[in-house]
Amino acid sequence: MIDGAAAGTAILDWYDRHARTLPWRVSPEDRRDGVTADPYRVWLSEIMLQQTTVATVKAYFERFTDRWPDVTALASAPLDEVLKEWAGLGYYARARNLHKCANMVADEHGGRFPDTEAALRALPGIGAYTAAAIASIAFDRSAVVVDGNIERVMARLFAIEDPLPGAKKTLYAAAASLTPAKRPGDHAQALMDLGATICTPRNPACSLCPLMHPCDGRRSGLADTLPRKAPKKAKPTRRGIAYVAVRKDGALLLQRRPETGLLGGMMEVPGSEWIEGETVPDAAPPLSGDWRGVGEARHTFTHFHLILDVRRADVPLETVADQGRWYPRETAMAEALPTLMKKVLGVALDGADQGAMSSKTSLRRKKPGVIGSS
Ligand code: ADE
Repeated sequence: MIDGAAAGTAILDWYDRHARTLPWRVSPEDRRDGVTADPYRVWLSEIMLQQTTVATVKAYFERFTDRWPDVTALASAPLDEVLKEWAGLGYYARARNLHKCANMVADEHGGRFPDTEAALRALPGIGAYTAAAIASIAFDRSAVVVDGNIERVMARLFAIEDPLPGAKKTLYAAAASLTPAKRPGDHAQALMDLGATICTPRNPACSLCPLMHPCDGRRSGLADTLPRKAPKKAKPTRRGIAYVAVRKDGALLLQRRPETGLLGGMMEVPGSEWIEGETVPDAAPPLSGDWRGVGEARHTFTHFHLILDVRRADVPLETVADQGRWYPRETAMAEALPTLMKKVLGVALDGADQGAMSSKTSLRRKKPGVIGSS
């Protein structure tokens, strides 16, 4: 049996000594001196951290908060500017929801984030985890915060061997049994830090862990095998064509994707549908020209792998296209291009051509299985 109160105290004591310094975080010392967290900064960081690592998020967070220091400023920003600043963080629906949420807070809540989990959950882009994290970190509510790191800590501490995702309820109940009424936000952040620095997926540093003694997973020698995971279904592979038209002056032919669905509202080069199977689906090019195959761009989304057959045509200045619009090269590269399209352009444009390509394509994502997903 784990003594929840004793474990909770050990976690907070450890946090007081080892809390990471993060741009959105109020340190435990400052908290003791009465400094409270800014709900806007907590919310923004949590949305950014939903699919991206702390290391990557820091720079984005600093840029966003320099440019838009509060929720009203972000709400007033044009969506396109927000999307551009977000480019590289992936999952653009998150950036759209971020902007929508900022507008709702500005218009319907007088510029102040609501302070309960239920009211937070009613806002766009805020699910159960994020609502709990904001309620706890920004408003000191005793909410049960469970992300992937915390699931791992709980599976080990309580030696829960049921595989994920089925074990989610049990892991939540374990986390609930530890959540304190006092300093719940620091408790949640302590567990996040513990999961990120000590109770890591591989080679956990049990000898440094404040929960070493009560940990059932360590005692039974199972710690590094937990949490167990049900085998994943294999992802199907879809194929398609991407047409990269390059005008004499370097301009590129781009079009905007529909607002809803995958990569909603992002820019792309024209192409075919993406169809599951072994063969490349057919689709007419956006203009007649000397199209040649220049290679493949591969990308993995959450639910499928994608292989695009990249074709390029170099065309005269006066060329008129059936689809899309010409973007001067620098403008094209500054557009909100999803990682997939950066890969496509990387394949189509040779070294000199790529001068203006963004270096953001190599960003690290949290899940190795979905590197490059957007
Ligand atoms: N991961 C998600 N939210 C976090 C936070 N507030 N601090 C550290 N890591 C996090």
